Amino acid sequence: MAKIIVLGNEKGGSGKSTTAMHLIVALAKTKKKVAVIDLDLRQKTLYRYLENRDTYCKRHKIKLPTGEKIFLKESQKDSKLESLKKEEKDFSEKLFDIDQVFDYLVIDCPGSHTNYSQMAHAVADLLITPMNDSLIDFDLLAKIDPKTGKVLGPSIYSEMVWSARQVRARSEKAPIDWVVIRNRMSQVYSRNKRRVNTALDDLSKRIGFRLASGFSDRVVFKELFLSGLTLMDLTDSEAWELTLSNIAARQELRELLSFLGLSECANSI
Ligand SMILES: Nc1ncnc2c1ncn2[C@@H]1O[C@H](COP(=O)(O)OP(=O)(O)OP(=O)(O)O)[C@@H](O)[C@H]1O
Ligand SMILES: [Mg+2]
Repeated sequence: MAKIIVLGNEKGGSGKSTTAMHLIVALAKTKKKVAVIDLDLRQKTLYRYLENRDTYCKRHKIKLPTGEKIFLKESQKDSKLESLKKEEKDFSEKLFDIDQVFDYLVIDCPGSHTNYSQMAHAVADLLITPMNDSLIDFDLLAKIDPKTGKVLGPSIYSEMVWSARQVRARSEKAPIDWVVIRNRMSQVYSRNKRRVNTALDDLSKRIGFRLASGFSDRVVFKELFLSGLTLMDLTDSEAWELTLSNIAARQELRELLSFLGLSECANSI
């Protein structure tokens, strides 16, 4: 069966699509067949990223490892219940087809709640939630006391993951492995950062996720998007200079892949 990796959180711009693209390429680089569903049906950032990659390959007459886009449509039925039923049917049919052909399915969720996003969370083998490395983004995971920084309880999103885990527990599959990634880390060690550290450690035990560090804040990610490349392609491409910052970013990627249990991918970079 295809292993399902879901990138989710309900906050925009935290690095879901960027992380998804890096995972897709890392898996495809080790000859895995990767299906991709972008559930951000409006922005389609991940599909655009993949299309930029195709354009880059055509322009430079090269072949680069990539994933295959699979499309799902938002249902336009009159009633909410009918729409939900139609989307559930379409979703499970796509999963069935993907299972026959692919090794992995990577699903990128939008920064807001949708029916499909909820369904994706319930089928995830691995759920990855990137969050910007600041206390402001912490409310994605938990309600906190603004004065003391103390955790008061789970957020709506954490509760959604909890209910997805309940649905999952009724199946025979292993529990969802939930990994929260701290993204866009600043190089400076600040008081704010220390508070995020302590609060996240506390929360990871309380609501059951593993905490990983993602990428430092680096401008290279924006440039990569436009050309459809990832940190892993920089050696493959003559147009790119491999700077020290890029090498450090690749090391962060390697560490992340190992943390996610994708050692083969980590070793191939
Ligand atoms: N570590 C990083 N350093 C600098 N910029 C980053 C980093 N990670 C992502 N970005 C940039 O931040 C922006 C948002 O990233 P991305 O699109 O991956 O987030 P997202 O969570 O998918 O957003 P949305 O919820 O809108 O779909 C992009 O321009 C991306 O290039
Ligand atoms: Mg996105």
